[in-house]
Amino acid sequence: MPLMYDDDVTVVENRPLTGGHFLLSVHSPRQAQATRPGQFAMLRLLGRSDVLLRRPMSIYDVKPSGDHVPGSAGVSPAPANRRGNRGDRTSSQPEVVQLLYKVVGRGTRLMAELKPGDRLGMLAPLGHGFFAEEYLERVREVDEVLHVAGGIGIAALLLPARELARQGIRQRLFFGGRTKWDLVGVQDFKPYVKASTLATEDGARGHRGYVTKPLEEYLARFRDKKFLLMVCGPWPMLEASVELAKRYGHPCLVSMENRMGCALGVCLGCSIRVVGEGHGAYQRVCTEGPVFWAEKVVWGKDNLPKT
Ligand SMILES: Cc1cc2nc3c(=O)[nH]c(=O)nc-3n(C[C@H](O)[C@H](O)[C@H](O)COP(=O)(O)OP(=O)(O)OC[C@H]3O[C@@H](n4cnc5c(N)ncnc54)[C@H](O)[C@@H]3O)c2cc1C
Ligand code: FES
Repeated sequence: MPLMYDDDVTVVENRPLTGGHFLLSVHSPRQAQATRPGQFAMLRLLGRSDVLLRRPMSIYDVKPSGDHVPGSAGVSPAPANRRGNRGDRTSSQPEVVQLLYKVVGRGTRLMAELKPGDRLGMLAPLGHGFFAEEYLERVREVDEVLHVAGGIGIAALLLPARELARQGIRQRLFFGGRTKWDLVGVQDFKPYVKASTLATEDGARGHRGYVTKPLEEYLARFRDKKFLLMVCGPWPMLEASVELAKRYGHPCLVSMENRMGCALGVCLGCSIRVVGEGHGAYQRVCTEGPVFWAEKVVWGKDNLPKT
């Protein structure tokens, strides 16, 4: 089993972004260093008996303490220890975990109130992410990886994009949101992708409508190229992207965001139907996922995540 830690961590920064999004940075060296692209964390609000369940969040980024990347959200230095000493050690190892989240309900509303120095329970890193060896083999065979993100689904894709760039793989981002305020984090992808195609439902930024439209145009225009799609977003966008990948004959990985209870493979609350017969035809998003080959998942309304 991959390394995973259940730690109480300290908030370094909780930066408000546009559209009710926040970038939460926590100091947690061993969780930051154990993280692989596409994994997630379970966050627990300490001392809040009214919010019992942990909330799952993709690990958006991991950074050395005090590292400020131009154009990105950046983070403040790690908190001082009890003697008020930050130490003069400057480490290039990641020590800060960043989570990009949208306020949608009670748990995330309370998260938005977190201040530097507050403590938070964090179980991480979880799931096998985008970098199982079988995935990498397919990635190496293609001309370009297409990241397809809907809304806060973008949070699952930054670390994979950085890792693929490190391996010299050409990439492009397709990112859709309801409004321009939902297109958070685009600048963070700039160093890693050849180009970004944006879409908003009201047309205020990028294409008007769903991002799957420019994605389809791109796939139709470059029929002779081999792509691999990495998709994360709401269920209808996943389905539409998967259908396009199938129609144009490209492999497709999806990162699923089902509601979760334990995230440890015990409660089965996150199970999805997968192709196959009998009891084996279910898999747990928290442990076998959150990333699956698209053709493995049974699509359609019967498999819609419970909300
Ligand atoms: C593996 C994984 C990774 C995720 N990564 C992120 C991330 O990086 N950033 C982020 O903002 N969110 C992410 N989510 C979704 C996030 O967990 C939920 O938005 C959050 O738990 C809602 O908590 P709440 O108490 O604020 O809302 P609740 O009061 O529990 O619910 C409020 C609203 O949020 C919706 N909701 C609840 N859970 C989910 C869910 N899992 N997916 C979609 N909608 C949900 C409900 O339908 C409801 O409308 C992820 C989910 C999973 C499973
Ligand atoms: S959340 Fe409990 S098994 Fe996945």
